[in-house]
Amino acid sequence: MCDKHNGNCFEYTISGMPPVPLNCVVNGEDVHKMVDPTMTLLQFLHNELKLFGTKEGCGEGECGACTIIMNGKTVNSCIVLAIEAEDANILTVEGLAEGNELSILQQEFIKYDALQCGFCTPGMLMSARELLDRNSDPSEKEIKEALAGNFCRCTGYVPIINAVKAAAKREREELK
Ligand code: FES
Ligand code: FES
Repeated sequence: MCDKHNGNCFEYTISGMPPVPLNCVVNGEDVHKMVDPTMTLLQFLHNELKLFGTKEGCGEGECGACTIIMNGKTVNSCIVLAIEAEDANILTVEGLAEGNELSILQQEFIKYDALQCGFCTPGMLMSARELLDRNSDPSEKEIKEALAGNFCRCTGYVPIINAVKAAAKREREELK
């Protein structure tokens, strides 16, 4: 934790290499920053943008807690360098809600108790969002496949799958 920002930032080692410009769009907002070339995208979200919704679990690309959507695809932000996001369009869990209104997907996660400690939840939501963006009526097998890279230590998988199914149904109905 760092002592500069109320202890909210994950520590990272500044490489000493010259900072490089990073221009991208995060949750619909243009972002222009100078960044250490060794900083990960997850560290960038936390330390530079103060977006703490994306969680760090393993930090090694294994658990899916840090999943975000970059250019329409899910990525583990702990193993992507921030500078790889140049010109990218990034969606994090903070970008799912519309103002104060939670998205249908978030509402269904709450309704189905699809969160226990909640640490995996942002990554689960992002993987589910990416699935529903390309497949509005996924089968249970497809939902399981989409969430396969996201581990829930509380093993709350059944409510999560049910929440994604319910969200898909509601989203389809809203489109009618
Ligand atoms: S924190 Fe990135 S995959 Fe685990
Ligand atoms: S709710 Fe705790 S890890 Fe999934």
